[in-house]
Amino acid sequence: MNTFFRMAFLTIVLSLIAATGVSAQEKTIACVICHEYLGGELARPVKEWKGSLHQQNGITCDLCHGGDPAVDIGNIRQLSSSQFADRQARAMSKSHGFIGKPAGKQLFDVCGRCHEASVDRYAGSIMGKAYLGGKGGPSCVVCHGTHNNVIPQVPKVCSGCHKDTTGFEQIDPMSVSESTIAELSRIKIKLASEKTRGARPAFLPEFPEDLGSFQIGFVAFGAVIALFLIGCLIYVILEKRR
Ligand code: HEC
Ligand code: HEC
Ligand code: HEC
Ligand code: HEC
Ligand code: HEC
Repeated sequence: MNTFFRMAFLTIVLSLIAATGVSAQEKTIACVICHEYLGGELARPVKEWKGSLHQQNGITCDLCHGGDPAVDIGNIRQLSSSQFADRQARAMSKSHGFIGKPAGKQLFDVCGRCHEASVDRYAGSIMGKAYLGGKGGPSCVVCHGTHNNVIPQVPKVCSGCHKDTTGFEQIDPMSVSESTIAELSRIKIKLASEKTRGARPAFLPEFPEDLGSFQIGFVAFGAVIALFLIGCLIYVILEKRR
């Protein structure tokens, strides 16, 4: 009985924690409520973000976009269009630091609030500099996705910009430097020589020569037999003539 009450108590406490956790999050994030309601392209970020590592760690929309997620929306279906516009303007207001779509240096600052070391590593790399300088380098979200940030598959994610991705799995894409390029060419040379050796397994180089001597032996053996048979034939014919 004692265990039963303890279990029941634990269950109630746990479900209360779960319930308040969910409702607190649902209530405070005006961004999620409205963007989900809007549907289509404007709801896609919410769909992707839900279940992501960021969402699981409580990294909400406003931590990247700024704005005020605590605006009270009420029942969004019952808002008049002016009320709707008012809620939107308050949630997405510049006075609350709303920045829209972060890009360039601003994107690095946003991610850098929590991933300082990773951002520094990338900002100092050849591709990071090519991104900041507007020279076609990939932004963080090209590799990691925008709203469901994951560790990308290398070299798949690179092949959109690089034709030859040989050896890309063996370098760190976040810190490509002059020494990485040198390392990469060493890896490429090593892989190329392994490939040429790999395509002709150890027994193959000797095989054609073996075949040659075997054929020579076979032909020679055949010739001896043929000569022997001809000899026999001549002998038989000569014997018959006698
Ligand atoms: C009441 C509705 C509403 C709320 C609340 C709301 N949004 Fe929006 N949001 C919109 C609409 C409508 C658009 C598209 C039209 C526009 O850009 O004005 C939009 C566009 C955006 C864009 C794209 C801007 C661009 O430059 O393309 C971002 C980013 C965004 N919202 C983030 C947020 C964030 C973060 C929050 C919460 C802090 C939030 N929104 C709250 C309605 C809302
Ligand atoms: C980890 C940071 C981060 C979080 C969290 C985040 N966003 Fe974004 N969001 C971005 C970035 C970066 C872009 C710009 C993408 C680009 O330039 O391609 C963006 C773009 C957008 C856009 C423009 C359309 C698009 O898909 O590019 C909208 C709308 C938007 N976000 C809404 C939201 C909403 C709503 C949430 C919360 C559910 C949210 N974002 C959470 C980083 C984030
Ligand atoms: C407010 C803090 C915060 C911001 C801003 C933020 N992140 Fe994160 N990020 C986290 C946390 C917390 C985790 C999960 C724990 C971890 O792995 O570090 C995470 C995880 C990640 C991961 C997964 C790492 C792994 O090991 O799987 C990637 C990739 C990532 N973030 C990229 C970004 C990018 C790109 C941006 C900017 C657009 C960004 N984050 C902005 C806090 C943040
Ligand atoms: C060219 C693709 C690419 C770009 C661009 C890129 N990353 Fe990464 N990132 C990776 C790969 C691959 C890994 C996993 C291997 C590793 O740790 O280097 C990674 C790892 C991470 C991690 C996990 C922790 C760590 O440092 O290893 C975080 C966080 C992260 N990146 C954030 C960012 C941010 C923020 C940006 C932009 C400033 C960015 N990345 C740009 C490919 C990229
Ligand atoms: C959006 C396009 C883009 C994507 C995606 C991309 N790169 Fe790059 N990368 C570039 C550009 C542009 C340069 C040249 C920068 C310069 O020379 O200033 C470059 C240069 C490099 C270099 C050094 C020189 C070279 O060409 O070999 C390496 C190595 C490299 N990238 C590896 C990767 C890896 C690994 C990935 C995937 C994880 C990747 N890149 C994804 C655009 C991209």
